[in-house]
Amino acid sequence: MKETTLNGKVFEEIISKEQIEQIVHELSQKINQDYQGKQPIIIAVLDGAFIFAADLIRNFDFDHQFRFVKLSSYEGMESSGTIKYLLDIDLDLENQDILIIEDIVDTGITLHQYSQHLSVKKPRSIEICSLLSKPNALQHKDLHIKYCGREIEDEFVIGYGLDWDYKARHLPAIYQLRKDS
Ligand code: IMP
Repeated sequence: MKETTLNGKVFEEIISKEQIEQIVHELSQKINQDYQGKQPIIIAVLDGAFIFAADLIRNFDFDHQFRFVKLSSYEGMESSGTIKYLLDIDLDLENQDILIIEDIVDTGITLHQYSQHLSVKKPRSIEICSLLSKPNALQHKDLHIKYCGREIEDEFVIGYGLDWDYKARHLPAIYQLRKDS
């Protein structure tokens, strides 16, 4: 079992670099099929999704616009419950197809609130693509993640863009906090 230590805590590798590559490949194939002939607006959520989004969109073979938004709900290892819009997009979204790219859906509060915020602009569709999700932590059970890379346990993870207090984003694999750590 590969391990890494951060701030005195031990994290174990749960998804390798190669497995991430395979997940990204499979997700992008599905998305390519579904968006042929459409011109969606792809919205990647900063900060955590920047690496995943960069890898994913380089496999896309349909016409699209790509934007970043910056949302924040986490403080340390906990979700704060309300999201802050640190960078939003100023676009007419009426009748547009929107695909949100996220690194991880935990409680679902961020994407539930953000989807509602986008719905007001009357898009044709809003779908979510998330590399990871924690079904046991999800508070908004109606949040539909159409493209989900991998469901994981309700434990804190780092790597491949996911941070702990701005550290560990550079790790090429996903590491989970060891239960006894
Ligand atoms: P939610 O609002 O609880 O679904 O949390 C969504 C955001 O919290 C994600 O976009 C991440 O930035 C952050 N987050 C949730 N779980 C983790 C984790 O295990 N590691 C690092 N960041 C996380």
